Amino acid sequence: KLRESKLVLNKLQESMTYIRTKTSAKPKIGVVLGSGLGAFVKEVEVETTIPYKDIPHFSPPTVEGHSGNLIFGKINGQSIAILQGRNHYYEGHSMESVVFPTRTLAMLGVETLILTNSAGGFGENMQAGDFMVIEDHINLMGTNPLMGPNIKELGPRFPDMTEAYDKRLIQIMEDVLMKQGTRYHKGVYCGVSGPTYETPSEVRYLKLIGGKAVGMSTVPETIAANHLGLRVAALSCITNLAAGISSQKLSHNEVTETAKQVEMQFSSFLREFIAHI
Ligand code: 6GU
Repeated sequence: KLRESKLVLNKLQESMTYIRTKTSAKPKIGVVLGSGLGAFVKEVEVETTIPYKDIPHFSPPTVEGHSGNLIFGKINGQSIAILQGRNHYYEGHSMESVVFPTRTLAMLGVETLILTNSAGGFGENMQAGDFMVIEDHINLMGTNPLMGPNIKELGPRFPDMTEAYDKRLIQIMEDVLMKQGTRYHKGVYCGVSGPTYETPSEVRYLKLIGGKAVGMSTVPETIAANHLGLRVAALSCITNLAAGISSQKLSHNEVTETAKQVEMQFSSFLREFIAHI
């Protein structure tokens, strides 16, 4: 029973040891960039870039439009760590490897985790290109990254999820989006496994249970981060309307195209948000 948790801790130690040969940075803020949202890196004074493929136990991403780098740098003089690209459960990665980079950030000293993603929207008045501040989530992935023996060095067996997304950070995100004049919504993100998009009936169901957006990431990282006691803030880019709401068929192309269109708004949002944390 002890072996499995020892293994994860050993792996984290190994990835840390490697990263520490490249940088002694101690960022308090970590940022995970979703599909097509990588332009933010251009705003950052980059100090160190480490490809995932070089870091023990990090898996390089397999999806088009996702790069895989752990980046250390400064923005407005603040030290940050960026995960440029993430692993998804639908790629066949275990939940453990999906949340491994999040746990590594915590080991590096990160206390606040900013998660970003592309999502399909089905809230009232939503349009492609809008943003959604995630105020809560519904885990529909059919699993949980904390299943299995609890790793007590990382956190408790039964983590509280009452405020999975930090209320203060939600307010700051809203203030910044408002000030920027960016169209945004606030709502519940439904995390599904994918890789198929939803059927129109599934989207009706998600709406019925209180969701406004659906995507294939973020929920595992938020769970692992809450386990670790990190503060979480999360923002969705509504790259498209979900099935049955949209008048056209869904495609990954549309997702990356929309993400590209809002890249600048998104980057300046992140810069401003981080300055106010
Ligand atoms: Cl419509 N569904 C899911 N699951 N993920 C998405 C999406 C839709 N649009 C972007 N990502």
